[in-house]
This record gives sequence, structure tokens and C-alpha cells, in this order.
Amino acid sequence: MNVKEFIAEAYPNLALIKYWGKKDEELHIPTKSSLSIAFRIFWTKTVLKIYPGEGKVEKIAINGIPDDLKKIQNFFDKIKKFYPEIKKYNYIIESENNFPSGAGFASSASGYAALAKALGKFLNLSEREIAIIARIGSGSATRSVPSGDIVVWKRGFNSDKELSNLEEVSKRSYGKTLVQKFEGISIIATVLSNKIKKISSREGMKIPVSNADGIYNAYVKTEEKDFKVLEKAILKRDLETVFDITIKSAMRLHGIILSYPNNGIPVFYLYDQSLELAEKFIELIRKEGVIGAYTFDAGPNPFFILQTKDEEIVTSMLKKLNVNYYIYRL
Ligand code: PMV
Repeated sequence: MNVKEFIAEAYPNLALIKYWGKKDEELHIPTKSSLSIAFRIFWTKTVLKIYPGEGKVEKIAINGIPDDLKKIQNFFDKIKKFYPEIKKYNYIIESENNFPSGAGFASSASGYAALAKALGKFLNLSEREIAIIARIGSGSATRSVPSGDIVVWKRGFNSDKELSNLEEVSKRSYGKTLVQKFEGISIIATVLSNKIKKISSREGMKIPVSNADGIYNAYVKTEEKDFKVLEKAILKRDLETVFDITIKSAMRLHGIILSYPNNGIPVFYLYDQSLELAEKFIELIRKEGVIGAYTFDAGPNPFFILQTKDEEIVTSMLKKLNVNYYIYRL
């Protein structure tokens, strides 16, 4: 059998302005722009094996353990529409994650980004095309494709005039590097809990979009405005503004999640301890002069973003509280 191999790697990312909702479920066009920072102590490495066939994924294993074939076949079926070449081969996917289990980072961003990059090598795609494929697997994966420290994923619409041609919109909505190097900053990922969340981000974000009213619409509008301010603040390295918007976007995300109960059942990803830890961090900002921000994804674990020089003040607080953490220095 004539088997070819394509190998690629990708890292997770942490959003400072969050993605929460799709305008288009098929192409994964986000309702609003988002911006993230790379987290490169964790990685996914993927080996994609291809041989003549009919577009079937025959095997997927992550760290040697078979994974959800149906989910990955569904991903391949979606991208077949853009790249019909895929139909002529069958696939074996072997992925390796160095994530400690329950490290607080979802492996879907680095997982789909690594797979999309491997597919990109096989199909000879540009970074932009790879970022479009990656987001069909997982929205935030689009931001794990470019190589820069700070990556943006623009929503791909004009501010007031939406594009009508989906293909054009899709081309304009993809992850790209805003800043290649953003040194002197550390990310501390804390681990309060490693329980699997009851509702995935993919499902959770459908709730406000399908019930969108004034609250969600105002959220999108406000965040889009802040996204533009954040982009400029990052380019000027105005850390005070960067950190202020980071905290606001995290809290708005959780405010929106709480504003739309799922058929009456509240969806909430944070624990009491999550907010207590955020408060302790804010105390360090007030009393010790730390410059930084906390943020949360759709989970209970706080992430701290701060100047590397202040790292020890925060880690000694975490040690006192017996909270486990991982540090990445940009
Ligand atoms: O990429 P998904 O579908 O797992 O959604 C990610 C959502 C958040 O992590 C909460 C926000 C973000 O922009 O990464």
C-alpha cells in the first residue's frame, strides 16, 4: 500500500477577547472578533497517514488511545466540500498531546490546528486556508494556526455592511498573527478542577445565539468595540488597557452565559473558588503593584496574565493556597 505521512505540531491559545457564538454554523463564522495569546509549553503533534481510498477516516488515536471516529469523520466530511481531493484517500490519524490530564486547557484548539496543518501539507494549502479548515473543527483552533505570540480572528464583516457572499466572508475570517513576539509576559494557568464540563463550549455558545436578543447583541457590539481598542493597545504595548479589557471580556463571557439559561437550567462554568482566586489576584494588583489580568475560558480555572517580573508574587500566593499551576513565559 502506498502510504504517505504528513506531520505537524500546534499549541493551545488563551483568548483575551473571547469567541462565543457563530454567525454561520457551517463555515464557523464567529459573531465577533477574538484575540489570543499563545501558550507553548503544551503541544499536540499529529501524524496524518494517507493512502488511496474513498474519504474515510479509518483510525484516530490520541496518545495511543482510540478517539471519537464519528466526530473526526464529520470534520473530514465538512472539509471535503472545499477540497474534493480528500475523497480520493483514506486516513489514519495518530496524535500525541503532552498536556498533563486536566491541565485546564482544552486540547481541541491545538488538536484541530495540528490536524489542519498536516492536511495543509498534504493539500498544499496556505496558512490562511489552513486556519479556515482548523476552525471548522474547533473555532478557537483557527488562532492556534499562525506562529505569532498574539493572534487575531476577525469576524470577517464590515462594521455596518455585512458581506453577502459566504465564500468572501470566509476568506476574510481567519486567524492571523498580530504580533510575532510579545516578550516579558507570563501566563499562569491554575488548576482548580479537572472535571469535564457538563456542556461543551460548542454547545454552550449556541444557547445565546439561538435566543439572541438585546443582551447578546449589545455584548457583541461592546466586545467588537473593545477588540479594536485592544488591538491598538497591544501594538502600543499599553499593558494597562490590555489587562483591563482582558478582565472585562472574561466577565462578560460569563455574564452572557448566565443570562441565557438552557431551557430554564442555568449554565455556569465557574466555581466560588474561581472568583475567590480572581479576587486574591486583584488584591495583589492593589497592594503589591502587580500589573496583570485574570481570565477564564468556559471552565472554572483562572488564568493570570502578567509581567514576568511579578511572577513570584503570584506564585507564592498560589503555593500558600495549595493551588497547582503551569507557567508559560513568552
Ligand atoms: O473553540 P471552542 O468551540 O472550544 O470555543 C472556545 C471558547 C472559549 O474558550 C470560551 C473562548 C475562546 O475564544 O477561546
